[in-house]
Amino acid sequence: MQLQYPSLMAAVATSLNGSIGNFTQEPPKNFGFVLYDSFDVLDISGSIEPLYLLSSSHQLNLSLIAESMAPVYMRPAANETNPVHSHFQLSVNPTHTFEDPPQDLDVLFVPGGGGERLGNITAAVDFVRNTYPRVKYLITVCTGAGVAARAGLLDGKRATTNKASWDKIIPLGKGVQWTSPARWVVDGNIWTSSGVTAGIDLMFAFIEKFYGKDIAHRIQAVTEHKRTFDPCDDPFAAINNVPPSGHCK
Ligand SMILES: *[C@@H]1O[C@H](CO)[C@@H](O)[C@H](O)[C@H]1NC(C)=O
Ligand SMILES: *[C@@H]1O[C@H](CO)[C@@H](O)[C@H](O)[C@H]1NC(C)=O
Ligand SMILES: *[C@@H]1O[C@H](CO)[C@@H](O)[C@H](O)[C@H]1NC(C)=O
Ligand SMILES: *[C@@H]1O[C@H](CO)[C@@H](O)[C@H](O)[C@H]1NC(C)=O
Repeated sequence: MQLQYPSLMAAVATSLNGSIGNFTQEPPKNFGFVLYDSFDVLDISGSIEPLYLLSSSHQLNLSLIAESMAPVYMRPAANETNPVHSHFQLSVNPTHTFEDPPQDLDVLFVPGGGGERLGNITAAVDFVRNTYPRVKYLITVCTGAGVAARAGLLDGKRATTNKASWDKIIPLGKGVQWTSPARWVVDGNIWTSSGVTAGIDLMFAFIEKFYGKDIAHRIQAVTEHKRTFDPCDDPFAAINNVPPSGHCK
C-alpha cells in the first residue's frame, strides 16, 4: 500500500484556505528545535508532524539547532562510566549551530531524552538560557523541562515534566512550581508538557491557540491522533505515583 501523503497535504491546504480565525496577534512562524546527543525522537517528531501539516498552508520555518552540524543521535545515553555499544541509533541533521543560530526565532523548543540526565548537555543548557530572552515562546516536552530548569528559566513558574522521571527532574529546579497531574502547563510564554506523547497534545493546543480550532481539528483528522483536550487530564501521574502538586490550569 502506498502512502498518499502529498494528497493529504493538499487536502489540508485546500480545506484550510481562508479558515484562519480572527486573531489580532501575528502567529508564531519560526520554530527552533534544540538537539543534543540522546534526545528523544518522538519528543521532537511528535510536534514537528502537526507543524509540517500546518506548513502546507502557512509559511513556517523549522530549524534544528545543535552544538555542531554533525548528525545528532537518538541512542541509549552513554557516559564515561557506562559506554553503550548498542547500534540502536537514529540521527537528525542540524540546520544550525548553537554558535550561529537563526536570528528571528519565535519559538524555542526543547525535547527530553536520556541525554538530558546522563549526557553532557552544558552547551544546550547555555544555548537555551541565552536564547530565551530573544524568543516569544518556550516549549519543553518531557524531560526537556529539566534543561529549562537547569537554565533557570522555570524559577517561579508552574511547569510539568515526565511523571516517570519526576524524582530525577524536580531537583533541577528548586524554585519551580512543579505541577502534577498535568498533561501540559502554560505559564506566561512557557509551555511545558509531561512525557513524550504529551508533547503532541501540547502542540495541538499551541496550534489551536494561534491558528484556530478549524486548522487544529483538520490536522487532527489527518494525523488521526486521539487528542487530550484537557491539560489536567493526566492518568500518568497516578500510574507513576507522583503526588498532586500545583495547579494544572
Ligand atoms: C475581529 O475581532 C475584533 C474584536 O473582537 C472585531 O472588532 C473585528 O470586527 C473582527 N474582525 C473580523 C474581520 O471579523
Ligand atoms: C523564514 O526564514 C527566512 C530566513 O531567516 C526569512 O527570510 C523568512 O521571512 C522566514 N519566514 C517566515 C514565515 O517568517
Ligand atoms: C552514567 O550512566 C549510568 C547508567 O546509565 C548512570 O547510572 C550514571 O549516573 C551516569 N553517570 C553520570 C556521571 O551521569
Ligand atoms: C561538557 O561540554 C562542554 C561544552 O561542549 C565542554 O566544555 C565540557 O568540557 C564538557 N564537560 C565534560 C565533563 O565533558
